[in-house]
Amino acid sequence: MKEKIEALRKDIETAIEETQSGRALYELKVRFQTSLKGIMSGMKDLAKEDRPAFGKIVNEFKQSMEEKFDAREVVVKKMEMEEKYAKERIDISMPGKKYKAGALHPITLVKNELIDIFAGMGFKVFEGPEIETDYYNFTALNTPKDHPARDMQDTFYLAENLLLRTQTSAGQIRVMEKENPPIKILSPGRVFRSDDDATHSPMFHQMEGLVVDKGITLCDLQGMLAEFAKKMFTDSTKVRLRPSYFPFTEPSVEVDLSCSECGGKGCRLCKGTGWIEVLGAGMVNRRVLENCGVDPEEYTGFAFGMGIERIAMLKYGINNIKTLFENDTRFLEQFED
Ligand code: DAH
Repeated sequence: MKEKIEALRKDIETAIEETQSGRALYELKVRFQTSLKGIMSGMKDLAKEDRPAFGKIVNEFKQSMEEKFDAREVVVKKMEMEEKYAKERIDISMPGKKYKAGALHPITLVKNELIDIFAGMGFKVFEGPEIETDYYNFTALNTPKDHPARDMQDTFYLAENLLLRTQTSAGQIRVMEKENPPIKILSPGRVFRSDDDATHSPMFHQMEGLVVDKGITLCDLQGMLAEFAKKMFTDSTKVRLRPSYFPFTEPSVEVDLSCSECGGKGCRLCKGTGWIEVLGAGMVNRRVLENCGVDPEEYTGFAFGMGIERIAMLKYGINNIKTLFENDTRFLEQFED
C-alpha cells in the first residue's frame, strides 16, 4: 500500500510541475482523485487494526497533494494572465483609424442662429404640426375658401380639410388660442408647396414670429427687424419695409435688407436694386385676433415669416436651393465649424 502511495506521489508531483494551464491542472486533479479512490478501496482488505493508521497516512497524503495543487494553481494562473496580456497588448503609438464626424446641416445652423438671435429678444419657441387642418392653415388666418390669396400657395391636400401646412403662420393661431397676451413666440418648421425650381423646393423651412401685447406698433416690428438684420448679416445691414398684402396682416409689408454683396450700390445678386427681399410681415389683422378670442381693442401685434433656405442662401452665397437637399458631403463639409 505504502509503495502504491509513494509511486502515485512521485507520478502526480512531477505531473503537477509540468502543467501549463488551469485546464490541465484540473484534469490532473481528477486523475489524482480517481487513483486515490482506488487506493482507498483497498482499505477493506486490510486487517481491522491496521486501518486507522492507514487512513491517517492516506489523509496526510491527500492533504499534502492538495497543497501542491493549490500552489501550482497560483503559478499557472499567473502564467495564463501573462500570456493573455502579451497577446492583447496594444501599441498605443500606432496611428488610429479616422472616422469622419458628422456636422450640422446649413439649414439647421441657420435655424439655430435665428432662434439664438430672437431668444435674445425674449422669444420662445413653439412648434406646430406639419399636417394641419384647413382652418389653422388658412381660414383662421383670414383666408377662407375661395379667397384669391390661396392661389399664392399651391397646396398639397390630404383630405378635404386636411393638408400639409403651407406656412408656419398656422402656429400663430394655435398659440393665440391657448395663451393670453403678452405673447412672443417663434415657430420654426417644415412647410410644403407644389413648387419646384432653382429657388423653390416642394419642402422648405420657415421661421414665424408673433408678438401680441398692449400698444405694439409697426415701429416695434421695424426696430426688431433692424436688430435681426445686424446680428444675422452685418452691422451695416439696413432694413426697408415696402407695402404688400397678406390676408392675415393689415398693414402688410415686404421686408428688404440692403444687399450684403454690394452694400446697396446695385449688383447681380440684388438685380441692380441694392435691396434683397427676405421676408413678409405686418400688423396682425384684427380679424385674426378675433378668430383666436383676443380683443383687438385691447391688444395689437405684429407677425413675420421668413424662409430659412432663403436666409441660408443669402448668408452663404448659395444660388441653387437644390444643393441644400442633395446631401452631397463635398458641399455640406464646407459648413463644418
Ligand atoms: N406666411 C407667409 C408666406 O408663407 C409669410 C408671412 C407674411 C408670415 C407675413 C407672416 C406675415 O407672419 O405677417 O408667404
